[in-house]
Amino acid sequence: MTPPRHLLNTDFPQPFPQAFRGAGIHLYDQAGRAHIDGCSGALVANIGHGQAAIARAMAAQAAELSYVYRYHFSSPAAESLAARYCALTAAPMGAAYFTNSGSEAVEAAVKLARVRHLAAGEPGRFKVISRHQSYHGVTLGALSWSGMPSRQEDYRPYLSGGCHIAPAYCYRCWFARRPETCALECAQALEAAVIAEGPATVAAFIAEPVVGAALGAAAPPAEYFAAVRRICDRHGVLFIAEEVMTGAGRTGGRFFASDHFPGRPDIIVFGKGVGGGYYPLAGALVSTAVAETIGAGRGGFAAGQSYSGHPVGMAAGGAILDFFQAHDLLARAAETGARLGRRLETLRAHPSVGDVRGRGMMWGLEFVADQARRTPFDPRLQYHRRVYAQARVNGLLLLPSGGCDHGRAGDLALVAPPLVISETEVDTLVGILDETLTQVERECPADCG
Ligand SMILES: Cc1ncc(COP(=O)(O)O)c(C=O)c1O
Repeated sequence: MTPPRHLLNTDFPQPFPQAFRGAGIHLYDQAGRAHIDGCSGALVANIGHGQAAIARAMAAQAAELSYVYRYHFSSPAAESLAARYCALTAAPMGAAYFTNSGSEAVEAAVKLARVRHLAAGEPGRFKVISRHQSYHGVTLGALSWSGMPSRQEDYRPYLSGGCHIAPAYCYRCWFARRPETCALECAQALEAAVIAEGPATVAAFIAEPVVGAALGAAAPPAEYFAAVRRICDRHGVLFIAEEVMTGAGRTGGRFFASDHFPGRPDIIVFGKGVGGGYYPLAGALVSTAVAETIGAGRGGFAAGQSYSGHPVGMAAGGAILDFFQAHDLLARAAETGARLGRRLETLRAHPSVGDVRGRGMMWGLEFVADQARRTPFDPRLQYHRRVYAQARVNGLLLLPSGGCDHGRAGDLALVAPPLVISETEVDTLVGILDETLTQVERECPADCG
């Protein structure tokens, strides 16, 4: 008899197999079977699994200095990583604060915006404007600012509500525009919301440069963030680029996705890939102007998070940046990612594939019952879960999600393998996905609901 398991399962009914080893893009279960990690876990394992150099750097740091509290000491590893992160953006940032998860980092970013306003003598600014069809994390603040009903519903009584505007979602434009008729209504919605809330009460606008779990790698129109920047400047609102998923080279070519767009953020939130799965590392970068205002007005950021700037995490982060450099990973993610995109485009031949979108090593497939009309599947079919389950059987891990169509319907899968994936492995991955879609379409044709 199998012994009872005490680890809480997810909302998937089946217990998951146990993974015993990871190497590159593969995870190996107890039977030694290889699974292709087609989504880097939750878009975390950007440098791939089992990179021994990172483990060595962490072990060396733990042996030398395993822990300091931010109210007692800084450390060479923390000072160095903060400086390196600040230099990663096209326009260098001013200062870094470290947390242990993306959710906490989002909350820290909002607090930093608030602290900046307090320091600047604007105590009336506290509201956060965010977008529908977005995801910012599990903690109650981050979940309040998210716009993903399926993840929020159960906890509504604890959520603050917040102010949400329309997403920049061209495949299902909320303003019924086509690219040729787009007048950036989704960005103008920000200005309308700021005015409606009262400009002197708004602290920040938070948005993912390319939306991850909630919209399957949907990027905004090219000028969207330039318009956002102008609106924020007009009303003294800070722009927070939420790069928990899009950072760490995920979109190829640049470390942060916000560097692909015009409109510099005041604060950048990072997480996931910066720790690469080796350490739960996340945090927020503030611009030089924000850092100077906070420094002049308040001196700093009073947060006593026990593990902030943990030396072992800092060492992991530093070793991961070294890995990026040694393997030219930003360029590689752009190049191999372009191949992945081209190969995924061929899946449009499947009647269930409505859209293929993304950049670098972050791609999304949106599934539809009718390609021409973009009609979503009946949500009761849980189409995204079917694709996920079949891909799993075939040895491929994907990140599924539902609700992109106003939270009511819509099925997605994120395809976002480790940036170290080879061209041959890209072809294998897409081959398995192709076969998976054929199987799911056979079992569940467009009219099966
Ligand atoms: C865009 C985005 N922000 C924040 C988070 C929360 O990060 P964490 O799970 O590390 O708390 C996630 C997690 O999936 C995310 O995708």
